[in-house]
Order: sequence, then C-alpha cells, then structure tokens
Amino acid sequence: MNIVICSDYAELSAKAADILEAALKEKPNLVIGFPTGGTPVGFYEEIVKRQLDLSQATAFNLDEYIGLAADHDQSYHYYMRHHLYNHVKIGKWYVPDGTAADPAAEGERYEALIKEAGGIDLMFLGIGTNGHIGFNEPGSSFAGRTQKTPLAEATIEANARFFASKADVPTEAISMGIGTITDAKRIVLLASGPTKAAIMKATIEGPVTEEVPASVLQRHPDVTFILDKAAAAELSNE
Ligand code: F6R
Repeated sequence: MNIVICSDYAELSAKAADILEAALKEKPNLVIGFPTGGTPVGFYEEIVKRQLDLSQATAFNLDEYIGLAADHDQSYHYYMRHHLYNHVKIGKWYVPDGTAADPAAEGERYEALIKEAGGIDLMFLGIGTNGHIGFNEPGSSFAGRTQKTPLAEATIEANARFFASKADVPTEAISMGIGTITDAKRIVLLASGPTKAAIMKATIEGPVTEEVPASVLQRHPDVTFILDKAAAAELSNE
C-alpha cells in the first residue's frame, strides 16, 4: 500500500496525471478505469493540459445514474465528454447505460466488455464520505460485479450539489462491483479535502469491513492512495 500526501489539490491532480502518463508510456493500449465527481476534475484538466495520448487506450467508467440518458447534463456520459473526451484523443470509452431496460443484463454486458478488453490495468477511484467506491455503499459485498445499486442517503445528500435540488438526484445507479474494481491490476484512489479525513483514516488504518467498502483496498497488491494534506489530517503518522 503506497500513501502519497500532497500539499494541495493541484499537486494531487498532477500526481495522478504523472501515474497515468507513465503507465501510457509503458503500455499505450492501457485499459483504464475512471471515476467522476468533484475530486478527479483537476486530474482530467491535467490530462487535457498535457494532451496525454489516449488514442490506443480503452476507458471504463465506474458507474452511471439509473434513469439519466447520455445527453443529460448530470449523467456521467456527459461529465466524461465535458471534462475529458471532447478534449483528448481516446481509443474506446464506455460508461454503463443508465437507461437500459434491463439493468442486470447491462451489468453483464459491461463485465463482458471489460473482460474482452483484457481487464482493467489501472483503476482510478474517488471515495465517498461513507467509504463508498464506485457506488458500492456500506454493506456491499466485496465480491460484487457490475449491477444496479441503491444510493445511500449520504450519497444523495453529497451529490445534491450537482443538481437543482436533492429531489432531482437519482436514487439508484449501475456501478462496477467491488469485485470488478479489485480485479484491476493497479488501483489509485484520490481523496481531497477535510470531509474525507475521517473516512481515509478508517480506510487505511481501520479494520477491513464491508461497512467501509474502500477498506477492501488494504488487501489489494498494488494500491496507491493520493491524498492532499486535509484528507490525510487524521492519519496516525500525520
Ligand atoms: C463516481 C464515483 C464515486 C465518487 C465519490 C466521491 O464515479 O465513483 O465513488 O468518487 O462519490 O465523489 P467526490 O469526488 O465528488 O467527493
């Protein structure tokens, strides 16, 4: 487990881009996992600024809201085009279809696409204040695969800032499962700001428990946590 503590958000974003840049140099046809949310925005800005060559890469997003079409401005399809794919060359990119009539079949289709691509080489993650990764809320099975999942009340509240009102936040998503995420060969989790300090302590130093989904990462052979000072504030050695 590698822990990188950055002085601020700009450094965190640059560190994440450094890791992606080096991985692409080694393997131009990298298979990448990408998160959405507030945390990775600076990372995507860095990728665009550096014009990293993703033309041979394949990217899979972690999740999508159920019920939001690809052109909805809060869908993760839209988010990825807006922050990244409209601005760089990308080989293939996928986001689960939140409008699929049969979410279980959509989950299976997504899993098959990941398998066909050879599995995820480098998975970037954010983390919810309750420890969720993707939209795998506390209590989710560590063996879970891509599937429909209800959002926790804390997640709906946290994500209301992106919508006109809390009532507009979808209550379900399709998300890679924790099993899908931990199958990735390498994982990099980004955490920024004081609201992530307590959960980062629980994730890194607490017991491995399904009540803190991200704690499963302690068992992964190649995981890097990139935190800014505020998110690292409660770690024992800080
Ligand atoms: C979104 C995702 C979520 C977010 C998490 C943190 O694709 O996977 O797990 O990473 O909710 O969101 P922010 O970065 O907005 O605090």
